[in-house]
Amino acid sequence: MIKTLQDEILQLKKDKNAVILAHCYQSKEILEVADETGDSYNLSVSALKYANCDTFIMCGVHFMAETVKILSPNKRVILANGNAGCPMAEQFTIKDVLKLRQQYPKASVVAYVNTTADLKSVCDVCVTSATSVKICEKIPNDEIIFIPDCNLGSFTAERVPNKKFIFVQGGCPIHGNIPQSDVLKAKQEHPNALVLCHPECSPKVTQYADYIGSTTGIMAYAKQSNSKEFIIGTENSIVDHLEYACPDKYFYPLSKDFICADMKLTTLPDVKKALLGVGGLEIDMSNELISKAKVCIDNMVELGR
Ligand code: 13P
Ligand code: SF4
Repeated sequence: MIKTLQDEILQLKKDKNAVILAHCYQSKEILEVADETGDSYNLSVSALKYANCDTFIMCGVHFMAETVKILSPNKRVILANGNAGCPMAEQFTIKDVLKLRQQYPKASVVAYVNTTADLKSVCDVCVTSATSVKICEKIPNDEIIFIPDCNLGSFTAERVPNKKFIFVQGGCPIHGNIPQSDVLKAKQEHPNALVLCHPECSPKVTQYADYIGSTTGIMAYAKQSNSKEFIIGTENSIVDHLEYACPDKYFYPLSKDFICADMKLTTLPDVKKALLGVGGLEIDMSNELISKAKVCIDNMVELGR
């Protein structure tokens, strides 16, 4: 049944000259039919390789599809499940950013890519979890307003100590709310395991990490490491993917609550319907919004190289 659906999707992809992009938090069945998989940064830049395709199908959340549309405005971009959003992306408004700009007129505004296109249109540069340290180091300004994720922000600020960072409360409701007691319990149960965490986790959790990095960074670290056991401090889909990728190693979830409901919404039938043009959400943005938000994304791609 799954295989039949996957074969239909692969055929439709050819017929429609479409490319499927899938974030690594998606299910194994979806990753298997995708042309590109990876973290937010990988997906944004890899979409640029497909100059000749007509349509991108994004299996991920809304801001990821918007990012692809901003970088490829002449192509159709369809979010495979139109209800998949990222609650963090909606935490700030344009008004909030303009107020911060008034308060700190000399500061650059750095927006985590997990933000709406509207918000990006009033910021200076985007970062992803994989690139925030590199980009903040390169920004030619010593004062940085970092929105919305304070945990990624403080992770970055610690590694860029020569700059002043300004934070306002915000963050991932899943990563940011995992309590310290969960990491302590996981370490007690698996004393020989290394702890690998996403920087969206709270410092109360990341203080026990042996490695902190983006989704792709965590996967690469576990694959290359000589260690045999790992506690995974990000969405639990990564535990499953690593178990398939490294069958001789052992992976344990840092918490049973590491589940992003939005990332779980997309199914194979959604992908098929999006390809047929009878489902999903086509991303429609005005040229004005695209060109304003593009400044932020272009700066991210340039400084993130
Ligand atoms: P990555 O930047 O690692 O892809 O993370 C995106 C995200 O939404 C994590 O929760
Ligand atoms: Fe957004 Fe958090 Fe889900 Fe990532 S895990 S998509 S940051 S809500």
